[in-house]
Amino acid sequence: MNDITLTREEREAKLEGLGCRRKRVEDIRFTQGKGNYVDDLKLPGMLHGDFVRSPYAHARIKSINKDAALKVPGVLAVLTAEDLKGVNLAWMPTLAGDVQMVLADGKVLFQGQEVAFVVATDRYAADDGVVAVDVEYEALPVLIDPFKALEPDAPVLREDIKDKMDGAHGPRRHPNHIFEWTVGDKELTDAAFSKAEVAIKELISYQRVHPSPLETCQCVCSFDKIKGELTIWGTFQAPHVIRTVVALIAKLPEQKIHVISPDIGGGFGNKVGAYPGYICAAVASIVTGKPVKWVEDRIENLTATSFARDYHMTAEIAATKEGKVTALRVHVLADHGAFDACADPSKWPAGFFNIVTGSYDFPTAYVSVDGIYTNKAPGGVAYRCSFRVTEAAYCIERAMDILAQKLGMDPAELRMKNFIKPEQFPYHSALGWEYDSGDYQTALNKALETVKYEDLRKEQAAKREAFRRGETREIMGVGVCFFTEIVGAGPSKNCDILGIAMFDSCEIRLHPTGAGIARMGTKSQGQGHETTYAQIIASEIGIPAEDITVEEGNTDTAPYGLGTYGSRSTPVAGAAIATAARKIKAKAQMIAAYRLEVHEDDLEWDVDGFRVKGLPEKFMSMKDICWAAYNSVPPGMEPGLEAVSYYDPPNMTYPFGAYVCVMDIDVDTGVYKVRRFYALDDCGTRINPMIIEGQVHGGLTEAFAIAMGQEIRYDETGNVLTGSFMDFFLPTAMETPHWETDYTVTPSPHHPIGAKGVGESPNVGGVPAFSNAVNDAFSFLGSTHIQMPHDFWRNWQAAKRLGVTG
Ligand code: CDP
Repeated sequence: MNDITLTREEREAKLEGLGCRRKRVEDIRFTQGKGNYVDDLKLPGMLHGDFVRSPYAHARIKSINKDAALKVPGVLAVLTAEDLKGVNLAWMPTLAGDVQMVLADGKVLFQGQEVAFVVATDRYAADDGVVAVDVEYEALPVLIDPFKALEPDAPVLREDIKDKMDGAHGPRRHPNHIFEWTVGDKELTDAAFSKAEVAIKELISYQRVHPSPLETCQCVCSFDKIKGELTIWGTFQAPHVIRTVVALIAKLPEQKIHVISPDIGGGFGNKVGAYPGYICAAVASIVTGKPVKWVEDRIENLTATSFARDYHMTAEIAATKEGKVTALRVHVLADHGAFDACADPSKWPAGFFNIVTGSYDFPTAYVSVDGIYTNKAPGGVAYRCSFRVTEAAYCIERAMDILAQKLGMDPAELRMKNFIKPEQFPYHSALGWEYDSGDYQTALNKALETVKYEDLRKEQAAKREAFRRGETREIMGVGVCFFTEIVGAGPSKNCDILGIAMFDSCEIRLHPTGAGIARMGTKSQGQGHETTYAQIIASEIGIPAEDITVEEGNTDTAPYGLGTYGSRSTPVAGAAIATAARKIKAKAQMIAAYRLEVHEDDLEWDVDGFRVKGLPEKFMSMKDICWAAYNSVPPGMEPGLEAVSYYDPPNMTYPFGAYVCVMDIDVDTGVYKVRRFYALDDCGTRINPMIIEGQVHGGLTEAFAIAMGQEIRYDETGNVLTGSFMDFFLPTAMETPHWETDYTVTPSPHHPIGAKGVGESPNVGGVPAFSNAVNDAFSFLGSTHIQMPHDFWRNWQAAKRLGVTG
């Protein structure tokens, strides 16, 4: 029976359910150095693998001589493509319907490509072996500039498919062309442009960046020859998908493959796909009969594993003189590198880029995307964003500012004028999405009032006058961004990975003493799932969150799930938790009715148990129901209290936010100061406000890094110029600005608890807010668009171009 000494509020507080700022339970082990990461794993007799990598971006391989390497003490084997051909693993399928070399087969296509895999008794011996492998290359012409990829005389990169004029996503019109993807009404859009009163057109590039999680990609593979079983511990964001991929390509029975993702030190999309390291470690373990560990170093991670973005977007908006938008037209040149290994749902070669109409009511729109090959690392992952959503948000939010500039209108006012109105939800966008809910006006108004927007604009006007008079060398920018995200892939009707529908799952087992375990198909990489998932269960079935253990990442015990990326955990797995909990609650109600000797309909839910309507003293707590489930269930009912749910969402969720960035830039040095950054997020029902704030802080820090410094840069011969944290900007607490967070709550109407995702919103909204601030600062000098990243040097270059510094 319930503790009658506690008030209702105290019982609710004890649960630590929805809305509670519950402290992260996983931090108990993380802050004491007790996390268990892949590299912590040490198995008896474990071997170590390391790669020989190509120094060339494009070259033919004339020969590979392993002899000297095999003489290095400790080196046991050197695998090349020829060895992998014997087991049909020299190439592997990518998530995007292409194939990719596991080890260089005849030629190399990007600097850092895997050429041979050296296996040794320790990592040092493996490295010595790598140095001793002698590879003879014949350099070939290199293609780095995406705008030259489709020229008639461009070097042909993929000789394996050069005559194949049909790819996974339709016709190809050049050997370096991967696909053309179009969406929207071209005729209607062209017609709107031909009669537009005002139109803007700008090439808006989103540079190649890299998710660079602190823990690099790694695995340990152990093949048990006696049982014929393969166990893989790895940094996998989607362990079940990895198991299925391994079963398909290694032709092993899926039940004999055990994939375990232990603690993961950040993923951000980098750990979704399958890398050559996983295949080589598995083959090496099968060959040697010993466990084999492969751990990337930082340079390898930055140069060879999945990049993000590299989208070159030509955006056009048509509008009336009063600033009402009438059409949007975007062409994207998408640089996918050497292989199309983008991690998107199968049918979406450009991800959800067609969210590019943003938060605005465009009557018509048309998008075309050309994917192309270049001599760069493959990838195209959703770096803390839902499949190309951050590219789309950047494109529309920059384009709206450029339109405002042309109209001589305030950018916030232009946004307000074109917002989708609350009464238009569910809203059907011109590019085919159904936005579930939103109240954009309220959110932007709250943001503008909080930052005292009008005062900022007055201050800016005064500063511009002072600059013109030569009284200051500093210019001030106010960056406004209003973004709409699309997260929670996804409804099986339009989202799958390799044919597997993108549902997610939860299995809850309650034990007799009123404690339990929830096993999930997702995998946290730092997002705090162990804390927040238990909160959903606590609110649903009245068992305190501290009595629920959340387990993820072991394919032997977890129900099949599609994993964690694209902020899909809360929208999809979060819903699976609620629906599994509701199945348990329904059974619990039957047990309580039986025990309290009333009809089920005579019971009502009350915080942590069932009460007989009208008889408040007759109450049975969930804790007591758990016990009863194992000893006195109604006749004919199976004992036990557990449920599993596979949740296929009816729609995506559409979180949104209003961000404002205030920045000062010294035109003589390019040095910027972020004076203020305000971020209002609406992710529907908030499970744990403290974790949401943490997610927003982390995402904004990454957005700051991308907008203000990150870029994977190449020289014209394909050398990676930014292969370490000396050159690739990873901000520390020293550079990171102070964040102000805020929120509104517009629940998702179709999600069982009304929650939308949040983990990626700050990356999606943060980048345009920073970039708009820089561009706004320079706009009065006649500039419309300055390409990211806005580092000191580029700011100074922009000032020079605009003639305000020497
Ligand atoms: O898929 P991923 O975990 O990266 O993203 P998410 O679903 O946005 O969740 C990130 C973290 O924020 C999780 O711990 C969620 O439970 C939490 N969250 C929340 O407390 N309330 C929301 N409405 C959304 C997420």
